[in-house]
Amino acid sequence: MENFSFYSPTCFVFGRDTENEAGAYVKRFGGSKVLIHYGGGSVVRSGLLDRVKESLEKEGISYSLLGGVKPNPRSGLVYEGIELCKKEGIDFVLAVGGGSVIDSSKAIAAGTLYDGDFWDFYQGKHIEKALPVGTVLTIAAAGSEGSGDSVITKEEGMYKRGAGSDAIRPKFSILNPALTETLPAYQTAAGITDIMAHLYERYLTNSAEVEVTDRLIEGLLLTMIHEGPRVIADPHNYEARANIMWAGTVAHNNICGVGRSQDWNSHNIEHELSALYDCAHGAGLAVTMPAVFTYQMNHNVMRFAQVATRVWGCQMDFAHPEITAKAGIEAFRSFLISLGMPKNLEELGGKEEDIPKLVEVLCHGDGRKGTISGFVTLDETDCEKIYRMML
Ligand code: NZQ
Ligand code: ZN
Repeated sequence: MENFSFYSPTCFVFGRDTENEAGAYVKRFGGSKVLIHYGGGSVVRSGLLDRVKESLEKEGISYSLLGGVKPNPRSGLVYEGIELCKKEGIDFVLAVGGGSVIDSSKAIAAGTLYDGDFWDFYQGKHIEKALPVGTVLTIAAAGSEGSGDSVITKEEGMYKRGAGSDAIRPKFSILNPALTETLPAYQTAAGITDIMAHLYERYLTNSAEVEVTDRLIEGLLLTMIHEGPRVIADPHNYEARANIMWAGTVAHNNICGVGRSQDWNSHNIEHELSALYDCAHGAGLAVTMPAVFTYQMNHNVMRFAQVATRVWGCQMDFAHPEITAKAGIEAFRSFLISLGMPKNLEELGGKEEDIPKLVEVLCHGDGRKGTISGFVTLDETDCEKIYRMML
């Protein structure tokens, strides 16, 4: 295990009706003038936005509203939000929605206290300070409710890039699993896929002797394998949704990632797909991960064989561990397809002729130097081969 420091001070408020406590938590964390940020309308239709507004009013907290965050959130609305916060003297950003809304909120929170262009943060500049952010989560997926990360797409060039800092980690996150019952099955499945991706990206490590985090990850993957089909069969299964929601948070607040190197090649390769095709991030990962894992398998076949036996119930073939490793990848692929996820680039809305462009933006776009690096380092040729494996 490698040295680490782990600082994850988000207050999680979990359970039915907890959204009614949003106002009290904003107050507890010092908010007096709030920007409520939300997406394309699901929180309006469900009545959630009204309940959150009421809870702020009950505490005598004033607010401004900014809706319209799109999945794969764009820079345009972030600039608008920053301007609004500065003009109105906002001191707290409350995200009501999914990962896209939360990420847009984090970008606004950081950009409001910064004199330069907020995009600097998505090109590597460290975020020193930000307005406090709180969240009311409506989909178990990205883990942004507990992470210090934000992913935004810059419209000029359609660069989808991430920024990370403890300064944007939410002060509190309200997690009511019942709020996720209105999700379309496809979004529920995309969320499950993303959660499993966050676990796999940490599992694929070059660090030795990381038994605690390996076992945490395996337990969470097994939970997703148990709960995923249950929630697809019955969208109103509160207990299944509760387990998935909490798994989504601990999969990505990095408690499973400490003391070990991590991968993130699948995420980087996928981000180009959701940037170009505007597909759900989780759906893009369902197509990306089997290809990336197969391509990277020989780097450490025993790691893939380990997850295959411990999580997917594969029989260990000691003479040919690569057979076990591959069986685990195939079991994962089949599981994702059984949840309703796409199996190839075409089903995702992608096209073979776009591959050179995907590779170019992935390896060279917005200041990249020709490679991406994780479990293994991948250059343009590797990335092109991986995209072709998705056909
Ligand atoms: O916009 P509305 O109308 O709210 O609809 C959303 C959206 O269309 C809908 N939805 C959300 N909750 C709902 C609901 N519909 C009905 N009932 C509900 N309860 O679902 C759609 C997808 O929402 P989105 O917020 O985009 O989903 P998700 O949470 O999967 O977020 C995806 C974004 O997060 C980024 C992804 O790249 C992507 O841009 N990620 C952020 C990370 C982070 N900050 O730590 C890490 C992740 O790896 C990921 O990259
Ligand atoms: Zn993800």
